[in-house]
Amino acid sequence: MTTVAAAPVTGLPLRLSAPEPGWELTADVCVVGSGVAGLCVALHARAAGLSVAVVTKVRADAGSTRWAQGGIAAVLDPTDSPEAHARDTEVAGVGLCETAAVDVLVHEGPGRLRQLIEWGAAFDRDPSGRLLLTREGGHSADRIVHAGGDATGSEVQRTLQDAVRADPLVTLVEHAMVLDLLTDADGRAAGVTLHVLGEGSADGVGAVRARAVVLATGGMGQVYAATTNPSVSTGDGVALGLRAGAVATDLEFVQFHPTSLWLGPGVRGQQPLVSEALRGEGAVLRDGTGERFMLGVHPMAELAPRDVVAKAITGVQLRDGVPHVWLDAREVPRVAERFPTITASCRSAGIDPATDLVPVTPAAHYASGGLVTDLAGRTTVPGLYACGEVACTGVHGANRLASNSLLEGLVFAARIGAELARALPPAMPAVVAPAVPSGLLDPAGRREVTDTMSARVGALRSGAGLAEATGRLAALAAGLGPEVPPGVAGWEATDLLTVAAALATAAAAREETRGCHWREDHPGTEEAWRVHLDLRLDRDGALTVARRPVGTPVVPPW
Ligand code: SIN
Repeated sequence: MTTVAAAPVTGLPLRLSAPEPGWELTADVCVVGSGVAGLCVALHARAAGLSVAVVTKVRADAGSTRWAQGGIAAVLDPTDSPEAHARDTEVAGVGLCETAAVDVLVHEGPGRLRQLIEWGAAFDRDPSGRLLLTREGGHSADRIVHAGGDATGSEVQRTLQDAVRADPLVTLVEHAMVLDLLTDADGRAAGVTLHVLGEGSADGVGAVRARAVVLATGGMGQVYAATTNPSVSTGDGVALGLRAGAVATDLEFVQFHPTSLWLGPGVRGQQPLVSEALRGEGAVLRDGTGERFMLGVHPMAELAPRDVVAKAITGVQLRDGVPHVWLDAREVPRVAERFPTITASCRSAGIDPATDLVPVTPAAHYASGGLVTDLAGRTTVPGLYACGEVACTGVHGANRLASNSLLEGLVFAARIGAELARALPPAMPAVVAPAVPSGLLDPAGRREVTDTMSARVGALRSGAGLAEATGRLAALAAGLGPEVPPGVAGWEATDLLTVAAALATAAAAREETRGCHWREDHPGTEEAWRVHLDLRLDRDGALTVARRPVGTPVVPPW
């Protein structure tokens, strides 16, 4: 077998924003992002008596949370157990889950779900008032709580936004793209710079000064040409973290959701999700001949862990030379009533899931990795926390279990809140003058980033393809120019390039197949690769990769 060395990516930017912000806000805690993770951190920090600024790139509800369909996994049925939930999580994570983090998730999850209900979330119940529980891929029990049938995220977002907006000591700044971390002389987080499209004093590039910064910016699905993620998911938090010297890990484990609605060849951007819960309620997958191909693949068939189903679908598409397979939901009882969101997406494409087969194909869905944190949400940079999809707590390993993501946001936000209450520095850190900004990627280069990622760093990868990808991304990094005017388009393109380069570098380095990282040239899962790959951006803008055995902490005490 020929090994093709991936080109090292160097010359990535270390700073985006101007050294002198034009305006300033202060709060005890600055939370960046306004999905389940960010808003829950804000509520817990407020419960501890702290003032909070929540800054968010577009509108408060523009992130991934609102789009979540399936639900929240939590052990509520007495015949189920946290141990079974932990086992399912670890099986899906294929040896890379951090057991301590998984234990926290499954044991603290039910309490955090009840708290969300106390805050006003209305989940679906049976006529006697009991919460309805469904099943999704990889779960050995019915433990998925849902709202509005398949509109769980929208109910979670509504509940948390209402609670945050009712609190006058939370300042919510919308249309604010985060740029860089501000630090004090000891390297401790002291706030962020951001660009606000606003009116009056807070307009243009400014700063939020704070005693702690919590990144809750969500995922990076827009690094691919087609994704289930909304347009704001451009990896801004991971890119900022890398620029600030934080360690990111498990970035190669991008989860491809098995069933996005196939809308035709060459589609780009956000694609409609067709929830796994539909398979939990009896829908099955068929190839072009009508054959149920999952039956021979895994004992759980269509409800196998997500990576198994996505790989099987991709395999059928390659085998038959077709762009999609079929989801058959015709036997699902009252499908339009139980799944109104999916039914509406299908109908707008001229398909009725009650009577028609639904064309589906895998699409980039979730970053199982992110900025590495400990159990209190601390990153490797003092004063900087990460929560939700931007973070890598270790609960997901090589492949996230369905409906563990909203849960992770709920659980770890509470832990960060407790840590903020205990460990904030007594005074506002003094900011040291930041460095001069680096050049940006021309927004026209964004398409090359996403096309390269989809073609070479997608669901099925090879050493040669990954080497080509890192080569192209390295060439784009070499061309970053001071002539590109500062602005959201250039900053987003530059963040996408940064996370694409980190993801492709990790994928090229991992010479095995594990979870959602699938290498055609290394099809086996190897014990020697039961390690995390830690990515750092060194002070010259070069990416470095280090192996770290599972169970080895990387966040130093601070
Ligand atoms: C789905 O509803 O299938 C997605 C849920 C998830 O991403 O966990």
